[in-house]
Amino acid sequence: MHAKITGLGHALPDHIVTNHDLAQVYDTSDEWITQRTGISQRRHSETETTGDLATRAAREALRMSGRESVSAVVLATATPDYRCPGTAPSVAAKLGLEDVPAFDVSAVCSGFVYALSVGASLVETGRFESVLVIGAETFSTILDPADRTTGAIFGDGAGALLLERSLTREPGTIGSATLGSNGNQADLIQIPGGGSAAAIAGADASPYFQMQGAAVFLDAVTRMEAAVRDVVDAEGWHLEDIDALVPHQANVRIINALAKQLDLPPEKAVVNIADLGNTSAASIPLALAQGSAAGRFQAGDRLILAAYGGGTTWGAIALTWPNFTSTTTAPSN
Ligand code: COA
Repeated sequence: MHAKITGLGHALPDHIVTNHDLAQVYDTSDEWITQRTGISQRRHSETETTGDLATRAAREALRMSGRESVSAVVLATATPDYRCPGTAPSVAAKLGLEDVPAFDVSAVCSGFVYALSVGASLVETGRFESVLVIGAETFSTILDPADRTTGAIFGDGAGALLLERSLTREPGTIGSATLGSNGNQADLIQIPGGGSAAAIAGADASPYFQMQGAAVFLDAVTRMEAAVRDVVDAEGWHLEDIDALVPHQANVRIINALAKQLDLPPEKAVVNIADLGNTSAASIPLALAQGSAAGRFQAGDRLILAAYGGGTTWGAIALTWPNFTSTTTAPSN
């Protein structure tokens, strides 16, 4: 049994925050942010929660596949609507899928690759006929107003893929996956407050997202390179066979360094960070939606998704591009 992509959707909040806007708030400049990260603007949600954005993206994926229901919903997010319960059940309910299993996956910027691997496995076992896999974030809600580094990088958005059972390995099939973690590096990317650690320690810990950028940068390139090589080998492909590398959008310099390490022409990497910033678990499905809308992928193309994030966590997945009969609209709203 195989899991095949039959729908794709995305959702972005309307409010655009440019680097020039940020320069009014922090001691920063458009030049610094563009040169160090490749980001020109990002979206901040003013009215929609993570669950709202996830629902919008999922609706579009359902519409594209012509389905009204699925057997399960898996949502990757580090910015759930509530610390408890998970956000996926309320997304399922808003989609009119009250009784289906729905749960969150927490792997920060690797979240979508983790969720897609889990979702594909649910279908491949034969237990679930179809699964919605969503990555959705509102990082603007957890940014430290005093931290110009994270303030410059992160943005909000959501993307969704619909997976359905397939008996053959046709275009759109999810292939090999590799996932990993190193909890010894948990402090590289963290919200120190709000969890049991701070409560037990009685500590007055920050409720905001924190990141050790330089350490993250180096480890991200190393881990994603190894993960990509693993899945390419597992598929029996060669690196030169890859039509598109769709990496997590953390920093354009990380993406360029990854392509260089893999000896891939930089144009094979799909990059949408300039307009959206780092949308964490949403970045890969948003890049897929944008690439699809731009006609970047042909049916049967060999794609590798690769991500690195808090935990620390990382992973990569091989897939072939489906033969979509319709395309989604460009993620411009
Ligand atoms: N504007 C101006 N200066 C800034 C700035 C901003 N928005 N953010 C940081 N700086 C400053 C720092 O304070 C530091 O100043 P100092 O030398 O006086 O201390 C200087 O720029 C250099 O900081 P450094 O961290 O060495 O820069 P860098 O080249 O590593 O770039 C990141 C910083 C955060 C852009 C980069 O490390 C990165 O992208 N890391 C990964 C980010 C990520 O997305 N992680 C999420 C999970 S994958």
